[in-house]
Amino acid sequence: MNSGTAMLEAFYEAAGQFVPTAQLAKLLRTPAEKIAIEVAELEQLGYTIEAHPHFGYRLLGAPDRLMADDIRARLKSRIIGSEILVFEQTASTNDVVTHMAKTQPGEGLVVFAESQTKGRGRHGRVWSSPRGKGLWFSVLLRPNLPLSSAPRITVAASVAVARSTRKTSGLDARIKWPNDVTVNGKKVAGILVETIGCEKQPQAGTPVPPNQPCIHPSIVLGIGIDVNCRLEDFPPDVAGIASSLEIESGRQQDRAELAAEVLGALDEYYAAAQKNFDTIIAEWARLSTTLGKQLVVTMGKRRIEGHAQALDEDGALLLRKDNGQIERILGGDVTVERA
Ligand code: BTN
Repeated sequence: MNSGTAMLEAFYEAAGQFVPTAQLAKLLRTPAEKIAIEVAELEQLGYTIEAHPHFGYRLLGAPDRLMADDIRARLKSRIIGSEILVFEQTASTNDVVTHMAKTQPGEGLVVFAESQTKGRGRHGRVWSSPRGKGLWFSVLLRPNLPLSSAPRITVAASVAVARSTRKTSGLDARIKWPNDVTVNGKKVAGILVETIGCEKQPQAGTPVPPNQPCIHPSIVLGIGIDVNCRLEDFPPDVAGIASSLEIESGRQQDRAELAAEVLGALDEYYAAAQKNFDTIIAEWARLSTTLGKQLVVTMGKRRIEGHAQALDEDGALLLRKDNGQIERILGGDVTVERA
């Protein structure tokens, strides 16, 4: 760990209180007289730090910029964030991670971008990713799960995003199955799960063909959160249905704080998705705007109507149709008809 990250870690741990100079010196393994130089380096990066002759130093503010060291300093996760990269601009962070996965052993790599030029959503839709306004990032996962259980990852990620958003913003974030996080009925975040490492690229959740060698695929989990977007940042086609945490809360949100919260929550729910998915189902049910509702699900040209009964152990939605039959739904666009 470099000295900047170590110092930030101490400041975040102190949660706004002073950290004695002697404690910083011990942590950084540097003479106390040199701490002022390290502090000045953080100030150069945009941090506001107060110095006190007796109490030491305390952090008053951080810049509104995503920085890998900063996110790492706030993070206590085990797998997710084992490596963090931040790009000023990419086409799509999902593409960066897909590319890196070819040479990267292990899992947990996280790639953020301050802006994306070709951000994509589900069904090939455009995902608008304006500079510095949101969290646009992708995570490399190699879960110990068969391809048929890949929808668990979307469910786990939606719970992680909703929970962390609730924690940092105080907003009533909810989950609209399969991949939307909403506030006051408007979408504020979306999740895009793509499988890699297969000869063909089956859609996550579709049955594995008998000749398909890819039993445990690697997964690129892409997450987009509209944190501080303004109304004018949204393309006209989503303006009425999308919103941001800033719009809904009426105040600018700390992107780095939310980034660290989401990665920490993802770490927890990713582990649970592989071991005790039941606990996630229970939390999902508490946050869901879909469960118990009469839905219309469209999948291409197919249209299915039914009552959303539950999630199954793979993360598929169980829909009870009017004829009493239960249909497992693995994706598609959901419209809520009535309660
Ligand atoms: C959706 O709601 O349709 C999913 C949106 C996913 C957007 C994120 S932003 C980071 C990552 N990179 C992309 O190109 N897409 C995902």
